[in-house]
Formats: sequence, structure tokens, C-alpha cells
Amino acid sequence: MKQTILTGDRPTGPLHLGHYVGSLKHRVELQHSHSQTILIADLQGLTDNGHNPEKVSSNILNVLADYLAVGIDPNVTTICLQSALPALSELTMYYSNLVTVSRLERNPTVKTEIASKAFGSSIPVGFLNYPVSQAADITAFKATLVPVGDDQLPMIEQTNEIVRKLNSVADKQVLVECKPLLSETSRLPGVDGKAKMSKSLGNAIALGSSEKEITQAVRKMYTDPDHLRIEDPGKIEGNMVFTYLDAFHKDTDMVQQLKAHYQEGGLGDSKLKKIVEETLQELLRPIRQRRTEYLEDKAELINILKQGTLKSRTETDLVVNEVKSAFGLNFFS
Ligand code: TRP
Repeated sequence: MKQTILTGDRPTGPLHLGHYVGSLKHRVELQHSHSQTILIADLQGLTDNGHNPEKVSSNILNVLADYLAVGIDPNVTTICLQSALPALSELTMYYSNLVTVSRLERNPTVKTEIASKAFGSSIPVGFLNYPVSQAADITAFKATLVPVGDDQLPMIEQTNEIVRKLNSVADKQVLVECKPLLSETSRLPGVDGKAKMSKSLGNAIALGSSEKEITQAVRKMYTDPDHLRIEDPGKIEGNMVFTYLDAFHKDTDMVQQLKAHYQEGGLGDSKLKKIVEETLQELLRPIRQRRTEYLEDKAELINILKQGTLKSRTETDLVVNEVKSAFGLNFFS
């Protein structure tokens, strides 16, 4: 039996190279060996965009086009929309009774995000509760594996706590615990060298970037600030040119040679940036083209999402019934 994977993204912007390295590439490989569902988590996107819903609604098809353009195959991977699956909202409501406010406030991911978003004392209820909603996402598919970045580990832990509580209320095993599946490649820093590539930090290269945007991003790329003359020895650590070559250049021997040459001195940044640029242009050219083609046929995109969502609806409704039964509330089915 193939293991069941559930993963997802908030559609609050088009996806970028950070997503590609951290999760998309991995999902393209996993889709053949696992039974994989990807959730476009629009409701989770709303938890800090309640007053700006267009940021979410306008990006749903962008994210879907990004998935398809990198090679996620909707005939193999089920792609579905969170807001169109009532079971996920229902489960969130039931699970909310098994979780305390203080436990949510202690969730490290939520804690960090609350600090960075400067909500002050105006934290939306939905935001505080989003780990519960994420537990609903994962358990509704009875997922055993959740491919995530390390920032999401507290979500898995919180999900498994809910699973154990629900099973104990039911006095039988209704839900299954899940395990995180960390991707081998670590997080891709932004072009400015900051720890995380993110659209809001302005250091991202979107998968749909134009040729010119790629050129400009590479030009801005953070290298070794002390490497002033070509003949000077340069530093590799924290130098984005090498971070990106390691992440994207196919010829690892050549990258090793470039590193050695740079450390010795005699290799200029502009020559290296030219290589990085060519590598990224080559990677993103076909992705950009497929993405544009998909976005030209919105009706077909909506149809793909609808088919995946309908399939998921059947699956997730069954789990709601089991959870209702656990609370003794399943009178009509
Ligand atoms: N919280 C995830 C993120 O911000 C998105 C997400 C929503 C998710 N539901 C999920 C990830 C279920 C894995 C499983 O990236």
C-alpha cells in the first residue's frame, strides 16, 4: 500500500524558487511512489488576510498554474481547494474543543508569526486557531506523511496531540498519527542573503519571473562584500552565487572548480553571476512558458481544481462522520 501524503500552501502569492527547492521538486518525485494530495489552503491564507481577501482569491489559480508548470500531474496528484471542502471546517469546529487557547499560544510557529506580524492584542481567532484547522486538513485525508519545512514541525506535533485526544474520546483508533517528511535540501535563502526567500521581503524569484526580472535579481545577488578586486581571494560561505549554483547547477564538479578558483583569487563576481543567470534562465524558461499556457485557459484550471476537490470531498466527508460518531453526534447518516 502506498503511504498517504497531504501537503499544501497558502495561496497568498505566486510561488518562487524557495518553494521549488523546499517542496515542489520533492512533490514531483513523491507523486509516483505515494498517494499524494495537495491542498490549496485558501482558508488558512484568510486567517491573516480577512480584510484583504483578494490577496488570497487572486492567487489560487496562480498557485495551481505553478504546480502544473513544475510537473505536478493532476492525474496522479489530487489537487484540491480548502474552502470547497466543508469537512475541513467541520472538523476544525470539533477539534477546537480538544485544544486550549494557551496551548495554541505556546505553538512555536504561531508564536513567531504573531510576533512578526505585529497583531498587537488584535489576533484574529482564526489565526490563533489555524493549527487546529491544519490538523483538520491532515487528518481528513488520514495522511501518514506530511512533507514540510522545519518551521512546520510544531503543526505536526499539535496534529498528533489532537489525534490522540480524539482517539481517547472515541475509545478506539478513529484517526491516524502522521509523521513529517523533511526535504533533504535545506531552505533557499533570498537573493539578498537573508535566511528565507519570501515575496514580502522582496528577495524572491517567482517561478513565473520574466527573463528581465531574473537578470535583475541575479545582478542584485549578495556575494562576498570584501571581494573587491578580481585577483583577491573570495569567500564561499554566505555567498549567494555559490548557494544558488549548489542548488541549481547540474554539474557539481564544475561548481567545485569554480569554488576553488574563487577562493584562490582570479575569478570575478560578474563571470559567476553570468553562470548563475544562465542556469536560472534555463530552469525557468520552460516553467514560465507552461505557466503562461495554463493561465490562458482559466476554465481548464478551474476544472482541474474542481475534479480534485470533488474526489477529496467524498474522502473527507467519511472522516467527518467518524469524528461525529466519536462525539456521539452522528444521527442522520
Ligand atoms: N501551513 C502551511 C504553510 O504555511 C500550509 C498548509 C495548510 C499545510 N494546510 C496544510 C501544509 C496541511 C501541510 C499540511 O506552508
